[in-house]
Amino acid sequence: MDNHLQTIVKPLQKWYETHRRELPWRLDKDPYHVWVSEIMLQQTRVEAVKKYYTRFIEILPDVRSLSEVPEDRLLKLWEGLGYYSRARNLKKAAEKIMSDCGGIFPDTFASLMKLPGVGEYTAGAVASICFNQKVTAVDGNVLRVVARVTGSRQNVLLPEVKKQMQAQLQKVLPDDAGSFNEAIMELGETVCLPGSAAKCVECPLRGVCTAYRDGLTSQLPMRVKRVKRRQEQRTVFLLIAEDGRTAVEKRPDKGLLAGMYQLPNVEGFLTEQEICATAEAWEMQVLEITFIKESKHVFTHLDWLMKGYQVRVACPAGRFLWVTPEELQEQYALPTALKPFAPLLTARQDEDNNLSNQR
Ligand code: ADE
Repeated sequence: MDNHLQTIVKPLQKWYETHRRELPWRLDKDPYHVWVSEIMLQQTRVEAVKKYYTRFIEILPDVRSLSEVPEDRLLKLWEGLGYYSRARNLKKAAEKIMSDCGGIFPDTFASLMKLPGVGEYTAGAVASICFNQKVTAVDGNVLRVVARVTGSRQNVLLPEVKKQMQAQLQKVLPDDAGSFNEAIMELGETVCLPGSAAKCVECPLRGVCTAYRDGLTSQLPMRVKRVKRRQEQRTVFLLIAEDGRTAVEKRPDKGLLAGMYQLPNVEGFLTEQEICATAEAWEMQVLEITFIKESKHVFTHLDWLMKGYQVRVACPAGRFLWVTPEELQEQYALPTALKPFAPLLTARQDEDNNLSNQR
């Protein structure tokens, strides 16, 4: 498949040659330096990190000194950066490098991934920048650039979307993957800024950017937070009158499934006794209750966990519409949420049809 990302490689490399910022952790490619800076940069802006980084490296110049630093001293050095587990993991990783690797910094993506606090992003950054490995380092900045250049409307907060974008990038990575990774991050941090802060006039990728072409820059990337859906238990009544008709009712004109017809249902999983009491409150006499099945329906903000009961009744109540199986099938569109219960009601019609065919 054609990979549009191929078009960004050359202009990005060229741009980076002249726009690469001089940063304290870019003075060499020492993995200890790059690792410490990448961990600091994870939740903190470049400008804020500079001071912390310089002091940290002065006091703890190598893996050994970090592995031996008392925790209080370490936390004091980290004071103000926040997310202190990052500092604790740095020390743990340094101890591991000393004890398991003879003090030699791991030099592959896979071995870096084994260090505490090192995930795909950090392992990718260190492996590509320091050890020339052809691996990606995808952070939020990179996802923004990729989503905009490709015009993807997919939700970048989904792990599968991130994976897919990472795979697309992997295919176009040039030999100098480290510089390319830094270049695309740098573009995301300084030019391809979030929302309407994007500086498209300065962007070397403007000519190949789908979002720019389509006027979608401020809308991309899509970051849709998954809302925790409310779980609602419901008891669904398949009310059957003695003449074979079934009860349906119209939902209120506002709210969920507004104005649609439904099988009567109430909140909560009722016991058979409660089902009986509810039907009686609806002024019907219950003849028989049979549990039919459970079903689940996922709405946008809500899940319905349903238990359906067939309830045979005498004196069908006026509050419902009593319809024949044919009418139910042909005239009343049940919401999808309740469809799993419908075959039971309309099947009786099929049985009746079969019977009448045989007659
Ligand atoms: N942000 C985090 N790490 C970076 C890097 N190595 N280059 C540019 N920006 C970054």
